[in-house]
Amino acid sequence: MINDLNSRYGLNPAHSEVVEACKVIEPSDVLDMGCSNGRNALYLGQLGFNVTAIDNNPGAIDMLQGIINEEEINNIKAQVYDINNASLDQDYGFISCTVTLMFVDPTRADAVIADMREHTLAGGYNLIVCAMSTEENPCPVPFPFTLKAGQLPEAYQGWEMVKYNEDIGTMHNGAKLQFATMLARKPS
Ligand SMILES: C[S@@+](CC[C@H](N)C(=O)[O-])C[C@H]1O[C@@H](n2cnc3c(N)ncnc32)[C@H](O)[C@@H]1O
Repeated sequence: MINDLNSRYGLNPAHSEVVEACKVIEPSDVLDMGCSNGRNALYLGQLGFNVTAIDNNPGAIDMLQGIINEEEINNIKAQVYDINNASLDQDYGFISCTVTLMFVDPTRADAVIADMREHTLAGGYNLIVCAMSTEENPCPVPFPFTLKAGQLPEAYQGWEMVKYNEDIGTMHNGAKLQFATMLARKPS
């Protein structure tokens, strides 16, 4: 069963937007940016994607590598990498970046997003879920970076917006937190 490995290792199920995206994306080479200890990478691997999972936290990568070794998984590669570098060295059919972009250096955010676009194969997909801060809904969490209204559609001009929203959620303490959620497809 998909997500089996997640529960075996005490990980949360894959992010719901990753699960949704996989209903339209055929297995391909996928990059999981800011993979943490691998809840999305393991899910994608079980679906047959060839996964590169990157994070700048060596402890998280060690944990994921331990699972890869234990389960003898041969389609997930876990690597320590700082996404602020914006210097990906491979092209992917799918790049997934869920709740990670808000941790990048704000001076590097445009370069990181541009690097994602450039390293996506024609017809491939980018998924981004990232906190926003707007005049109406200032972000209550001091993330280093937040998106502005409409920033992603502008950055992805020419791509098909398969899904885009700027929905507001409510945190446990009642604070409002706005997220941009985008699944975009590069022209083929
Ligand atoms: C909130 S977690 C999200 C994990 C995962 N994407 C998910 O959906 O569960 C954010 C992750 O981004 C990683 N991260 C933060 N800054 C990063 C950077 N500059 N380069 C690579 N990973 C980074 C953190 O180590 C953390 O694992």
